[in-house]
Amino acid sequence: MSRKSLPIGIFDSGIGGLTVMQEVVRVLPGEDIIYLGDTARVPYGTKSRETVVKYALENAEFLVYRGIKLLVVACNTASAYALSELSARLSVPVVGVIEPGARMAVGITRTKKVGVIGTDGTIRSGAYFDAIKKIDSKVVVYLRTCPLFVPLAEEGWTDNQVALLTARVYLESFVEEGIDTLVLGCTHYPLLKRTIKRVLGEEVVLIDSAEATSHEVRRVLSEHRLLRTRQNRGRFKFFVTDSPQRFQEVGIRFFNAPIKARLVSIGN
Ligand code: DGL
Repeated sequence: MSRKSLPIGIFDSGIGGLTVMQEVVRVLPGEDIIYLGDTARVPYGTKSRETVVKYALENAEFLVYRGIKLLVVACNTASAYALSELSARLSVPVVGVIEPGARMAVGITRTKKVGVIGTDGTIRSGAYFDAIKKIDSKVVVYLRTCPLFVPLAEEGWTDNQVALLTARVYLESFVEEGIDTLVLGCTHYPLLKRTIKRVLGEEVVLIDSAEATSHEVRRVLSEHRLLRTRQNRGRFKFFVTDSPQRFQEVGIRFFNAPIKARLVSIGN
């Protein structure tokens, strides 16, 4: 089998990474993909750097062992904490979600005031802050954690009064701060786009890290001459470390297509 015809590997702490996979499929419909959702150990957003790095390495090892040509770290928290470790250790190219999202935000902002929302871990790591400042040190970055958005998205409560009230509490200060661009720095947040726009107004541009990442995946594959050129649509395999049934049921909302997931065991 040539390297080109190997699948892309994607991992996330659970279900949310399906938003990233959906974008990768949209941009690269001919690629095969293996997805691993670490549903037994989710959430990563509240865990320490050491734990997230350990989980990320174990997930990556599982995918690399199955044979992949590129690894996408769909989880923002895992990208924030473990990307450099993964890139240093793996023999395949590794793409995270932080850098593409940061680059897109800096390219779009006019007021040079950018908001970033994410899990506790992602925000605490300073990864988005550093990535944005590295590209343009004049950009002022406003950071905020929005932990309740994760269960709301999984519950399907993305457009109701609870979601709106929660979004108001989390995001209203961005309006006074005058941001014109907001990075959705968590796999789940794209599902809340409509509600977030209701709070911030239509003028604020929402950066979907998933979208930015899928273009980066295409760029890296092309750079390594690993892009698949066939016309047929790619095949997908889904693995989870717990509760395939729940992953399938909730996953439909994130992936907009039926999913058949297999249970696997990772770590100890
Ligand atoms: N996938 C995680 C992220 O993007 C959100 C869920 C979690 O905390 O594990 O940061």
